[in-house]
Amino acid sequence: MPEEKDKFYLTTAIPYMNSKLHLGFFYEAILADVIARFKRLEGKDVFFLTGADEHGQKIEKSAQARNVSSQEYVDMMSSDMKRLLDLYGISNDFYIRTTDRNHEKIVQNILTRLKENGDLYKGHYEGWYCVPDETFFTDNQVEEGRCPECGREIEYIKEENYFFKLSKYQDAILKHIKENPDFVYPETRKNEVLGILNQGLKDISISRTTVKWGIPVPFDSRHVCYVWVDALINYISALGYSLDDDKLFVKYWPVNQHHIGKDILKFHAIIWPAILMSLGVALPKQIAVHGWVMLGQEKLSKSKGITLDPDVLSENYGVEPIRYFLMREMTFGQDGSFTHDLMVRRFNSDLSNDIGNLLSRTMVMIEKYRNGIVPSNTNINPDFMKKWNEVKEYATNCVKDFRFNDYLSKIWELINMANKYIEDSQPWNVAKSSDDKDVKKLDEILYSLIESLRLSTLMLIPVIPKTCERIFSQIGINRSVGDFNLYEDGQWGSFEGKTKLGIREILFPRIKE
Ligand code: ME8
Repeated sequence: MPEEKDKFYLTTAIPYMNSKLHLGFFYEAILADVIARFKRLEGKDVFFLTGADEHGQKIEKSAQARNVSSQEYVDMMSSDMKRLLDLYGISNDFYIRTTDRNHEKIVQNILTRLKENGDLYKGHYEGWYCVPDETFFTDNQVEEGRCPECGREIEYIKEENYFFKLSKYQDAILKHIKENPDFVYPETRKNEVLGILNQGLKDISISRTTVKWGIPVPFDSRHVCYVWVDALINYISALGYSLDDDKLFVKYWPVNQHHIGKDILKFHAIIWPAILMSLGVALPKQIAVHGWVMLGQEKLSKSKGITLDPDVLSENYGVEPIRYFLMREMTFGQDGSFTHDLMVRRFNSDLSNDIGNLLSRTMVMIEKYRNGIVPSNTNINPDFMKKWNEVKEYATNCVKDFRFNDYLSKIWELINMANKYIEDSQPWNVAKSSDDKDVKKLDEILYSLIESLRLSTLMLIPVIPKTCERIFSQIGINRSVGDFNLYEDGQWGSFEGKTKLGIREILFPRIKE
């Protein structure tokens, strides 16, 4: 049984709506989706949030360049994002936009509260601002007018701003990180945060007067809220924090995992906790920081034309092979490469050959030797049962530290064992005999193959749900993937068999190398 049948709240970052999304963000969304689906499979009450970051100077400029209003622009970009989330099978429970009326109201409530707590003050900001990163930098950080993060040209700004007393929370954040060793994960990222904290925090500017496209500061309408503060608040505004109806907030907060990329660590591990501390709200349980998806050895970059377009990729390979590839090839926390060669190899070897062939060979034999009726579960093979228990335990543990590459290779051990069993046991010879012992043996072989397929498919639901539905229906199990439970369905031999197979179809036709 599951350890606890409780809630699980997880989020992705909300990407900027200034340009079309690339595979980098989809890696993050797929990673979070796989976890959300796994937790649902475990019977947890999941709330999975993603959405769109729609304010700020970068978006204002992109809209101007296209001669449309900022609102029209984000409406268009955000509806494209929703289309892509759907295409990629992302099962978010809610989609937040920072232009939602409720979000805007909550951001204003929060600004008022921060001010009442004495954590905001008016000052003058003079320094650098990188528009593509929407980030402030000091003189020491900037060399030759270029952003220290992204290397692009940077603007010098001088304006009246409200400041948030970030420095006040330095010791409390340090203490929290020391007392909660998994708060920032993995360790290398935690050390990075500790490094920043040990250097000392400065108060940060949280409003802009030269930007129009943002949420007005409620007590000073010449200012709009700094886009990063606005964006971070999405994680609680989506739950109705500070509204009369805040039942989602009461139920799901604190968040179990914020999934983010390594470039936005400081915002999530320092600024966000400080805001929450000021509000007296519990901190996130974990900030899980993944690495970059690269094209070969190159960082994805729109301006250099190094992109991985999710539409083109899905046309070439299909969405589920891409989901499989990213989970199989990326090591959590590290950068990983997408290459077309590697993609084709994974497609052909793991999907077409290993699981695709296991399915079709098993079905062909059951059709031929048993008229398409799956044998019953009377003859259980103890080696397979043992292997399955090992796979289930190991893979479940992988989810805790996001080792989906290990998760998948473990499932493939069962798939490979089943394929090897076909070679070793030679069912085509056993089928020649009508001896009682051989009839039973053949039943046991065919049942073991079906059970291997059923249970590996069960474990694959989080990663390739649509494919799993196709496999289940072919082996004659007509249930929607959302109805399965890892503990109730995940017992070797619990499938009774005696059912009729569905229609056989090739799962993944091979791609030319
Ligand atoms: O940072 N590989 O938005 P964003 C993996 N609006 N992940 C990548 C990636 C890559 N090549 N490129 C980007 C923002 N990401 C803010 C977030 S949250 C309150 C506000 C990740 O569109 C990136 O690290 O620049 C981030 O987690 C997410 O995609 C959105 O990035």
